[in-house]
Amino acid sequence: MNTRMRRAAFAVAAGAMAVSLAACGSAKQSGGGSSSASSGAKKGDAIKVGLLLPENQTARYEKFDRPLIEKKVKELTNGKGEVVYANAKQDASQQNQQVETMITNKVDVLIVDAVDSAAIQNSVQKAKEAGIPVVAYDRLAQGPISAYTSFDNETVGKTQGEALLKALGDKAKSGKIVMMNGSVTDPNAAQFKKGAHEVLDGKVNVGKEYDTKDWKPENANTNMEGAISALGKQNIVGVYSANDGMAGGIITALKAAGISNIPVTGQDAELAGVQRIVSGDQYMSVYKPYAPEADAAAEMAVALAQGKSLDSVAKDKVDSPTTKQVPSVLVPVQSLTKDNIKDTVVKDGVYTVADICTAQFKAACDKIGLK
Ligand code: BGC
Repeated sequence: MNTRMRRAAFAVAAGAMAVSLAACGSAKQSGGGSSSASSGAKKGDAIKVGLLLPENQTARYEKFDRPLIEKKVKELTNGKGEVVYANAKQDASQQNQQVETMITNKVDVLIVDAVDSAAIQNSVQKAKEAGIPVVAYDRLAQGPISAYTSFDNETVGKTQGEALLKALGDKAKSGKIVMMNGSVTDPNAAQFKKGAHEVLDGKVNVGKEYDTKDWKPENANTNMEGAISALGKQNIVGVYSANDGMAGGIITALKAAGISNIPVTGQDAELAGVQRIVSGDQYMSVYKPYAPEADAAAEMAVALAQGKSLDSVAKDKVDSPTTKQVPSVLVPVQSLTKDNIKDTVVKDGVYTVADICTAQFKAACDKIGLK
């Protein structure tokens, strides 16, 4: 059994969880600020939430995760809660420093999307010792976290693999595919890769496979150039890319080599990715709705800061390499191709058709009936 995260354990664990949550979940909201200096002081709406995001080259963090979490915290605290924000710009030691600063500044709770899920462990421990609960956001940080929210990341990888197989059809084994995975410091990357391999192994020939340092599009671009020269451009039938940012770098390399019309996968439903899907340069992305993930993080963080139970929000349980049965919220994902742009990102208000179909993409939008 997969030791990291499994719902199978949920039923067995539910009873035990209820007990342990009851032990720490009996505090009542006091209605305004803290009234005593003891560590068990009840918190009202005037809470301070520390938010730590891992990088800013991938669009989602500044464009969606941060503003959505800030909005939800405000909403849940009658406008009184404050979010203190820091972005680690892909630097794990800087992120540890940021946790220290937040502890010094006495935040009531932390929401952390770790650059490096192992390197953050000591900081999580220190926060706990300072009485500050940590919600692991999107990536499963190691150490004594109190809650976790993400998507089912193995399913993300499977969704990508299945879409690639569908796009390849009977050409699946007629050449080689290239696999561009994410950063080894990100536990999600390992799960995307695992899910993708589960679907693809035996059905395609993997010519080259990379773990991409820091998830950087420019590193994916360099690796793709290497793969093209090693395999020969006529031999590549498709590319598994773990996210849209890297797909951008990969597609630039493919175009420079004169390769077109091969399927490339992605993830995040970034605007640039959706536009490449419209123009046909990218085959698919995985749409992970940010709002429910951000809302879950905010709800759990506010509840933890106020000493309330997570029962009504966290219906799942996940094991990390260090911590078992973490109360969790896992949000479902959807494959995004040119056929369902309207039913996904447009319907959910992530983008309007006008955002996607700018002058440059107008003709392509018309062609696929996106208006
Ligand atoms: C996230 C992806 C993101 C990637 C690079 C992963 O942990 O789940 O949405 O594209 O990191 O930042």
